[in-house]
Amino acid sequence: MSRRTITVLGATGSVGASTLDLLMRAPDAWAVEALTANCDVAALAQSARAVNAKLAVVADEGCYAALKDALAGTGIEAAAGKAALCDAAKRPAEIVVAAIVGAAGLQPTLAAVERGATLAIANKETLVCAGDLVRAAAVRSGAVLLPVDSEHNAIFQVFDHAHPERVTRIIVTASGGPFRRSTADEMRHVTPAQACTHPVWSMGAKISVDSATLMNKGLELIEAAHLFPVTPDQLEVIVHPQSVVHSFVEYIDGSMLAQLGSPDMRTPIAYCLAYPERMATPSARLDLAAVARLEFEAPDYDRFPALGLATDALRAGGSAPCILNAANEVAVAAFLAGEIGFLDIAAIVADTLSRVGAGGVASLDEVVAIDSAARRAALAAVSRRGVSAAKPRQAAAAARRQA
Ligand SMILES: NC(=O)c1ccc[n+]([C@@H]2O[C@H](COP(=O)([O-])OP(=O)(O)OC[C@H]3O[C@@H](n4cnc5c(N)ncnc54)[C@H](OP(=O)(O)O)[C@@H]3O)[C@@H](O)[C@H]2O)c1
Repeated sequence: MSRRTITVLGATGSVGASTLDLLMRAPDAWAVEALTANCDVAALAQSARAVNAKLAVVADEGCYAALKDALAGTGIEAAAGKAALCDAAKRPAEIVVAAIVGAAGLQPTLAAVERGATLAIANKETLVCAGDLVRAAAVRSGAVLLPVDSEHNAIFQVFDHAHPERVTRIIVTASGGPFRRSTADEMRHVTPAQACTHPVWSMGAKISVDSATLMNKGLELIEAAHLFPVTPDQLEVIVHPQSVVHSFVEYIDGSMLAQLGSPDMRTPIAYCLAYPERMATPSARLDLAAVARLEFEAPDYDRFPALGLATDALRAGGSAPCILNAANEVAVAAFLAGEIGFLDIAAIVADTLSRVGAGGVASLDEVVAIDSAARRAALAAVSRRGVSAAKPRQAAAAARRQA
């Protein structure tokens, strides 16, 4: 059997590592064209050697010399910069795993879509910012878009693609994150480390914080609206702390179909890699007797305002989701850097949405311009809050802890 060719964008991240784990379990089945990272040279070089990639790319040009050194004598090509990321995506791999975090993944992901690759898309921010452009490019090129996000992968598996009119609702499950039972006052003082400690999933820092604010679920609603032919009114969220049911599709006859599995990203990634076949994975099998109970509860929009902001942006459409995403990326980075408090994240997103006028988005250039304008507005909001609000609060919390 001939080997399938694959490129992994964001190979050093959590999704990237899970993907490489699957590839390394079946080395005769895969030929790795390219792996990319931002600046983690050591991890990238180690992975490129392990899977014998043809090319390794770092987005940060300042890391090029280190990457070249790390790959010396291997025959693996090294490259750096944003254009090199897009060139990597354009190389002729059958499957491209889009696992860069944030809007930084947009251009390389779009480059792979434009050449008609099969895309295993984890990079939800790309769909949130430019879902219409990505879908239009896929129609033109014949690219196949397969969702890696466990919820969308579940929906994809149980959605009647031939008869979307038979679907009445998509219900996206949310674990509820680490602060599901916390009061707003308790959340005010949480640290980045606490926010990144997800009760069920092990993920990168940004998506972990998004899961804690429930912004992740809001981004997923927008992502679902691009991946499936449904209206915003047909999309709902239900909190399901066990993260065993990965989402539901309801049909006109009242049937609800769901996909279940242990919370291990290797299952949805493997689904995409093998599609339309199936492949074995080492993911733990569900022991339903041990799970015993499946709990569901409505999300709390008051304690988690990010979910409402994202729902509003989904309904507004146009550039609103792009503004929401850019502001959230800036605010999450500021929170992780200790510059603002946890509750400031949603406040900064709301502030940015109110200051940057939303409109239509017709081209990639417009997406890039809107993203930049929203980032500038969000950075300004961070400096206002960082000085006036978060630091005194953090100082007060630190003082309380010492008392
Ligand atoms: N983790 C999960 O379980 C999970 C589940 C569903 C969906 N997703 C989605 O999958 C995507 C990746 O998530 P993750 O948790 O794997 O993230 P992560 O662990 O933070 O990894 C992010 C990857 O993107 C690279 N990267 C970061 N900034 C970049 C830039 N400016 N240019 C180019 N590459 C850049 C990183 O390289 P360096 O290592 O060099 O920084 C790394 O390879 C996100 O969109 C997330 O929402 C993740």
